[in-house]
Amino acid sequence: MLNIALPKGRLGEKVYRLLASMGYDCPDLLSDTRKLIFFNRDAGVKYFLVKPSDVAIYVEYGAADIGVVGKDVLREGNADIYELLDLGFGRCRMAVAGPREFREEFDRPLRVATKYPRVAAEFYSGRNREIEIIKLNGSIELAPVLALSDVIVDIVETGTTLRENGLEVLEEIFPVSARLIANKSAYRFKEEEILRVVNKIKGVLQHDSDL
Ligand code: PRP
Repeated sequence: MLNIALPKGRLGEKVYRLLASMGYDCPDLLSDTRKLIFFNRDAGVKYFLVKPSDVAIYVEYGAADIGVVGKDVLREGNADIYELLDLGFGRCRMAVAGPREFREEFDRPLRVATKYPRVAAEFYSGRNREIEIIKLNGSIELAPVLALSDVIVDIVETGTTLRENGLEVLEEIFPVSARLIANKSAYRFKEEEILRVVNKIKGVLQHDSDL
């Protein structure tokens, strides 16, 4: 049995479509249930539904053999895993954003609100810019609007949330997409099973550009 950590939510739906098209479907997964574990015994897979930000933790500790996670979460968590494949969907970008008329004051630390403190710290330390990080858990765009911070470091997908709150991208940090990851020892001991999944995914991605 291959144990797979699936992210709940937006990204999870795309991942499920991908797995279903590979013959690893599991209709129960789409039903209105609070269950968190699902099986497709014929395909030899077991799914765990987890918070997107926790996928890499389940995989790093070996509770799951493989998982799918956004590059944003991977960079922030810094888990000790193998990154096997860029799935090409779940695309967005990590960016610095702020008010349209924002002018930086260099005589004091820049106040940065973010769900991604490690990403923000690495980005600004690479430029020797002193910052004060304000860690938030959501609705990050509110922070500069309420003068809680100067700027934000966050993911931008369509740009709608920024636009509708009078903000804009000031600088891009890195592109984000979904990645297939594997536990390091599972990759050794279940190599054949994992590579079978990897190759099936590659096959589907080549033929289905809608994913
Ligand atoms: C994410 C992100 C932005 C928004 C970007 O938030 O933090 O707020 O999506 O998407 P857009 O560019 O298409 O508008 P999410 O929806 O995960 O909610 P959150 O505020 O709870 O973090």
